[in-house]
Amino acid sequence: MTSDDEETTRYHITSVEGMEQGDRLRITVEGRDIVVFRGAEEFHAVGNVCQHQGAPMCEGRLLHPMETSEDGRELEQGESPTVACPWHGWEYELTTGDHVAPTEFSLPSYEAFTHEGELFVEL
Ligand code: FES
Repeated sequence: MTSDDEETTRYHITSVEGMEQGDRLRITVEGRDIVVFRGAEEFHAVGNVCQHQGAPMCEGRLLHPMETSEDGRELEQGESPTVACPWHGWEYELTTGDHVAPTEFSLPSYEAFTHEGELFVEL
């Protein structure tokens, strides 16, 4: 654990060696159940408990939903990753924890990053 400033605390989690894109790691930090996903280029940390009925999001499927092109004429592969709940499919943005539909439901979202091959999460 490293204190970063008055508002957040940085926690060393583990080495990222061997973690491939799509891998996930369930951790408990300060009593919070968190899952860290390895995306294409970065890591995303969100709460592990689905806001619907409590499914473990660490068992969810990672997706890159289709998005409308800038001119609005085509669908194209989106860049913003999501995770689909393993029980009933609610889908959350990994970058924000927000449900993809305009609802009040969202997963807690945390800063996750690497430094010199080590994974850190800030709360
Ligand atoms: S528990 Fe996640 S969608 Fe139902």
